Amino acid sequence: MERTFIAIKPDGVQRGLISEIVARFERKGFKLVAIKLVVPSKDFAQKHYHDLKERPFFNGLCDFLSSGPVLAMVWEGEGVIKYGRKLIGATDPQKSEPGTIRGDLAVVVGRNIIHGSDGPETAKDEIKLWFKPEELNTCTINSEKWVYGAN
Ligand code: GTP
Ligand code: MG
Repeated sequence: MERTFIAIKPDGVQRGLISEIVARFERKGFKLVAIKLVVPSKDFAQKHYHDLKERPFFNGLCDFLSSGPVLAMVWEGEGVIKYGRKLIGATDPQKSEPGTIRGDLAVVVGRNIIHGSDGPETAKDEIKLWFKPEELNTCTINSEKWVYGAN
């Protein structure tokens, strides 16, 4: 089943938005496969955002990501990478639709509270960067048969 990496950035954690954000993924029917609170080093933040290293905001972005606890998660479900991005909303909260996480809960692009993998390759790389294989839960959750049906 498809998996994605989702992180609540330091602003989302400090603003007390963990339960609000986790609830949106959980209620949708996606399955939480891994979760931990970590303070990434700046070097680690640079690895996470390596695709953006030429952008003018890269240094500030990495300083920010490493400025406090981040809630790192892996979510699983059919279409979770793309739909997770839909739940999150556009990068700039001014352009995010109401009803999305950034649309409802954030105001500026530099403090947009959440990260989500943008495709299958990045999801795989980011899960590997943030989690050890043994940290990923392999239990079956009973609700799965109610979310997906038997056939
Ligand atoms: P992530 O899920 O965090 O990767 O966001 P995204 O995929 O919607 O956007 P992108 O990967 O292009 O940018 C990564 C992060 O860099 C964004 O979430 C913002 O926090 C930050 N960012 C992007 N564009 C800007 C910008 O123009 N200015 C500033 N200050 N930050 C930006
Ligand atoms: Mg991105």
